[in-house]
Amino acid sequence: MIQYTTSLPADIDWDAVATIFERAPLGSRRRDPNDLQQAFAASYAVVYAYDGETLIGLARALCDGVYQAAIYDVVLLPEYQGKGIGKAIMEHLCRQLPVDNIILYAVPGREGFYARCGFVKMRTAMAVLNPNMARPETGYLDEI
Ligand SMILES: CC(C)(COP(=O)(O)OP(=O)(O)OC[C@H]1O[C@@H](n2cnc3c(N)ncnc32)[C@H](O)[C@@H]1OP(=O)(O)O)[C@@H](O)C(=O)NCCC(=O)NCCS
Repeated sequence: MIQYTTSLPADIDWDAVATIFERAPLGSRRRDPNDLQQAFAASYAVVYAYDGETLIGLARALCDGVYQAAIYDVVLLPEYQGKGIGKAIMEHLCRQLPVDNIILYAVPGREGFYARCGFVKMRTAMAVLNPNMARPETGYLDEI
């Protein structure tokens, strides 16, 4: 049975987390384990999904605790995908956010997953993205 925890396990192996991102995949290059640790530690809400002792997926959200939240880094090992675990991770994450407004941007092709989690497309979302993500072939940006 998959277990979900919402506090940071003390013994987490951030190199293994980087491997989850690499294998999922999420992102075009391997994440730095120290950067991942810093980002998850600085997040308002986190979810870690375990199969026994093995970390298989995770997600995080930023939040001001009053008005707004933003979800990032929803990621699951490929052999666990397509079994409802990603949706359960999203439910555990959203439950921790005491706000009415939650935003995210999907990797192109993942919009349907977030739609199944209750998210709808926004008409006016805009962003400043790093040069790698801003490349036309990533599919993140629209022409204005
Ligand atoms: C995206 C991800 C987290 C989804 O987790 P998952 O466990 O595979 O998804 P689930 O099995 O929980 O799917 C929940 C629902 O979304 C649907 N769904 C999942 N992926 C979908 C997709 N790419 N397009 C459309 N629908 C999708 C499922 O069919 C399911 O529908 P249902 O409620 O009718 O049964 C996971 O596939 C993953 O880690 N992918 C690689 C990393 C990534 O792209 N992360 C997202 C970054 S934005």
